[in-house]
Amino acid sequence: MYLSSMNGSESTALMGKTALVTGAGSGIGRASALALAASGAKVIAVDRDEQTLKELQADCGADIIVADLTTPEKYFPDDLKIDILINNAGIQHVSPVEQFPMEKVDLMLALMLRTPFYLIQKSLPYMYRNKWGRIIGISSVHGHVASPFKSVYVAVKHGMEGLHKTVSLEAGANGVTANTIAPAFVRTNLMEKQIASQAELNHISKERVLDEIMLAPVAIKRLIEPNEIAAMVLYLCGPNSNSITGSSFSIDNGWTAK
Ligand SMILES: NC(=O)c1ccc[n+]([C@@H]2O[C@H](COP(=O)([O-])OP(=O)(O)OC[C@H]3O[C@@H](n4cnc5c(N)ncnc54)[C@H](O)[C@@H]3O)[C@@H](O)[C@H]2O)c1
Repeated sequence: MYLSSMNGSESTALMGKTALVTGAGSGIGRASALALAASGAKVIAVDRDEQTLKELQADCGADIIVADLTTPEKYFPDDLKIDILINNAGIQHVSPVEQFPMEKVDLMLALMLRTPFYLIQKSLPYMYRNKWGRIIGISSVHGHVASPFKSVYVAVKHGMEGLHKTVSLEAGANGVTANTIAPAFVRTNLMEKQIASQAELNHISKERVLDEIMLAPVAIKRLIEPNEIAAMVLYLCGPNSNSITGSSFSIDNGWTAK
């Protein structure tokens, strides 16, 4: 699908580059891994779900690492030799602050903030040696604005924005860029699970959650498709990306326009 939608130069643009994608088994991570592979990159796909990783491997020839990304020390060397890092793996948990389980707080901080930091720290030396690197955090519209019951998610996504901005300043002189992509609701498993949680919390049907909660803040009333996020990932790694750093790219149906 990606190959057929690209011209010849784009399909080899990332030849010789190695890209590590976290949470590559599903949704945005899977779409990004497929797009990077179709552009010629060697993809290292990481996820805790072995089955979905094997499917991805069959689809695009990615190397796979089955890993619990809350403890990256167990799986990755100190000198991580990758050119492109996509910090994507994430989960959502919706709950009022006073009922938010502390073990979920720790899990979300580890997976979505500590691990991205860890992977950045371990991959920067190799990128600096090569004077080229691309670091992309899949943040969220919730890296820019808050919503009730998403305190920890909002906190980690704001943190992810700050992390990638800081890295952009430290890494710029070495040819390494760091940016985030901040989507509103994307049609993935994560979003499907949220519909059920929001229905329970707000005492409304799943059907009403989409219209009355999820699509209420946006100008364009549609869900975003994972390959639309992957297209931005590709752009930020591609031949016209040398001066793009420290930025956060909203793909949010106009959520943050007001
Ligand atoms: N779907 C949306 O509406 C949306 C919107 C904005 C941002 N995002 C962000 O996009 C990223 C990807 O989300 P998605 O919607 O594609 O979700 P998804 O549930 O489809 O995919 C997430 C992947 O991460 C993996 N994962 C989760 N915890 C893990 C762990 N501990 N170790 C290893 N792998 C783990 C899962 O197995 C899964 O394959 C997340 O960071 C999410 O916050 C999603």
